Amino acid sequence: MSKKKIVVTGGAGFIGGNFVQYMVDKYPDYDIYNLDLLTYAGDLTKHKQIEDNNNYHFIKADISDRETIFSVFEKEKFDYVVHFAAESHVDRSITDPEIFIKTNVLGTQILLDASKHINVSKFLHVSTDEVYGELDFDPTVFFTEDTPIQPNSPYSASKASSDLLVRAYYETYGLPVNITRCSNNYGPYHFPEKLIPLTISRVLNDESVPVYGDGKNIRDWLHVYDHCSAIDLVLHNGANGEVYNVGGHNEKTNLEVVETILSALDKPESLIKFVEDRLGHDKRYAIDPTKLEKLGWKPTYNFETGIAQTIQWYLDNKEWWEQIISGEYKEYFEKQYSLKDNK
Ligand code: NAD
Ligand code: DAU
Repeated sequence: MSKKKIVVTGGAGFIGGNFVQYMVDKYPDYDIYNLDLLTYAGDLTKHKQIEDNNNYHFIKADISDRETIFSVFEKEKFDYVVHFAAESHVDRSITDPEIFIKTNVLGTQILLDASKHINVSKFLHVSTDEVYGELDFDPTVFFTEDTPIQPNSPYSASKASSDLLVRAYYETYGLPVNITRCSNNYGPYHFPEKLIPLTISRVLNDESVPVYGDGKNIRDWLHVYDHCSAIDLVLHNGANGEVYNVGGHNEKTNLEVVETILSALDKPESLIKFVEDRLGHDKRYAIDPTKLEKLGWKPTYNFETGIAQTIQWYLDNKEWWEQIISGEYKEYFEKQYSLKDNK
């Protein structure tokens, strides 16, 4: 395989960070550029092990800053763009939607323009199953790539808008693109504002776990390593213009997820605290991954093996999440959950 220059936007975040490490290890001959603004969700301490590698590079930049992005792209002449950078938390999009439009929509459009300008060989846009809206509880119905786009939150509306722009750059300008739409990820370096790392970190501190509504909403959990292998496959083998759903049939109610973690850590169910529901809370997500499987993808984890590995990782890496939950996060948590206190 010839040497490639790959820019990974959002490579200091959860999934982008795991993907950067996966690529640096797997392709020593590729040059991997992590382009990230380092918002509250980005941190570089996770890359301590690879920061001195010859094939890893970091560029601090804002994807919604056209001038900077163009000058970086003109200088580096990337072959591939793998685009993770985004505002990613649904709850934050409900309280403050505007930054989601700036980063997720405008930022994506600027990256598309810069990619067209230097004729990249692939623009892979990492999207989400949330663009399809919600499913009801019928376990035989799944999201396919043909499910209509019907986003319900400001976050998913911003991601759907960016998906449509990516499609338009393929149809209008022939930019070689792929869109991947993945279900909920979990695993190492998951920021503790999201359900699984929030539960693990709070339970380890004997603090209550806020469960929205009745806890019966369903998510389809995929270990981040399996998401990385899916993106690697689509990047190298995906047909231009195609969308690929990513998910491993691991549907769980939120209550089941929280109970699994409590039981693995031998903590009482009395730590569960039912709180006011999320506005517009999608009932169920569930992916049909047949198209990706036909391309050759197979996940390595199921929920049971993946959650055990993840809990162990949080036990072994307390210093990483403890530095996060002691900072600005504390203020966020108090503001977000004080509103929900009385159900
Ligand atoms: P994250 O919030 O952990 O990380 C986002 C990263 O983007 C951070 O490093 C942040 O600093 C960076 N960033 C934010 N704004 C930026 C800007 N203007 N310029 C440059 N960098 C910026 O997100 P995540 O959970 O790793 O999600 C990554 C991508 O995958 C997102 O596009 C998200 O929509 C998508 N996705 C996430 C999941 C999930 O379960 N987490 C599932 C499916 C799809
Ligand atoms: O489906 C893919 C999406 O998964 C990604 O596009 C998003 O970026 C990612 O954040 C995630 O979105 P969710 O909203 O599904 O994830 P979150 O961890 O925020 O919530 C998971 C479920 O748990 C959801 O039904 C809401 C519920 N929840 C969440 C939190 C933070 C709670 O009950 N209590 C909580 O404190």
